[in-house]
Amino acid sequence: MSLLLTNTTIVSMDQSDSDYQTQPNCYIAIEHAKIVKIGPMQQCPTADYSQIIDCQGRLITPGLIDCHTHLVFAGNRAKEFEQRLTGVPYETIAKQGGGILSTVNATRAASESQLVELALQRLSALTADGVTTIEIKSGYGLTLEDELKMLRAAKQLEQHASIKVSTTLLAAHAVPPEYKDNADNYIRYVCDEIIPAAVAAKLVDSVDVFCESIGFNLAQTKAVFEAALSHSLGIKGHTEQLSNLGGSELAATMGATSVDHIEFLDEQGVKALAQHGTVATLLPGAFYFLRETQLPPIDLLRQHNVPMALATDFNPGTSPIASLTMMMNMGCTLFRLTPEEALRGVTCHAARALGLQDSRGQIRVGYDADLAIWNIDHPAQLAYEVGTPRLHSRIVNGEICHD
Ligand code: NIG
Ligand code: FE
Repeated sequence: MSLLLTNTTIVSMDQSDSDYQTQPNCYIAIEHAKIVKIGPMQQCPTADYSQIIDCQGRLITPGLIDCHTHLVFAGNRAKEFEQRLTGVPYETIAKQGGGILSTVNATRAASESQLVELALQRLSALTADGVTTIEIKSGYGLTLEDELKMLRAAKQLEQHASIKVSTTLLAAHAVPPEYKDNADNYIRYVCDEIIPAAVAAKLVDSVDVFCESIGFNLAQTKAVFEAALSHSLGIKGHTEQLSNLGGSELAATMGATSVDHIEFLDEQGVKALAQHGTVATLLPGAFYFLRETQLPPIDLLRQHNVPMALATDFNPGTSPIASLTMMMNMGCTLFRLTPEEALRGVTCHAARALGLQDSRGQIRVGYDADLAIWNIDHPAQLAYEVGTPRLHSRIVNGEICHD
């Protein structure tokens, strides 16, 4: 299988470029799902390609990467949304057994195929927005069986849609009712049984922990990371979302690919990310939906050259928003990112957050042929506009998809 894209305007997001220069009048040659040649149209190869697409000058970016989602779950939390509008805080709802645990009940009751069907509907909104790679977390099962069911459902999406899925085990998302007041025992169960079973079933790329007063403390977080590392899995954290427990620093020191949310991260934490090459993943959807006021330390992250990713955090409780370009807009309006930082956040830096920086997130020879072709004049339009249909088509695994 080979594909030749002609008359393209490339926005490569190559990390060596200081800004997103566009390169007009280019071709991109693809073979066996990899980019094999890029160059000016004057040097366009004439060899036989199974398919040639004239892009008519359209802008091409790397396929967008949504590097933090909870896409697989059943039920919804519209009632809780109403409750919060009457003034009940997220933490109070969680303590009353609502919040994450209400989604746990609905997800446990759903079959694997129901979970796939629900996730596919949500996924179609993301792919229509140019997403070609998605990270999906478990965390609404909280038993070995139900966590594995969620991960299998996440993996299955690759069979039903043109998408690459990176799976993350988030068994340490909340203390399940069976272990109420016994979080340490639950953590032992996660480390000794759930992680090894997920590894044996080849269902997991990374392990995540919700390190927070309504989640797990530092010692528990460390134990889960140690278990993950002993199986050579990647680690990442939901850290410093509602308070500063030091989870980001712990995660970075242990080699985390990313720490996510981080509204309450301080300079010491930022320095730890810089020192260990950990990506700061910003989740403006949750910030917006919970009407948070504490902004993530964007200027400090810039000063210390910490790569910033942006993701939807799509989930029923804090970010039921299935649009990654909407997150680019929110990253700019709420967090004052530049449109270029926002685009890096959903391409090269998002790839790094998933440990995929050597194959995805940039348009480069040798990289995977996962691309998004746009009906726009300037890349800043991706962050500037909301709700307008801008995608022309996606290239996934070297093949064109008209979503
Ligand atoms: O990323 N912070 C914890 N996890 C999710 C929320 C999950 C939920 O409320 O269902 C988050 O915001
Ligand atoms: Fe999340």
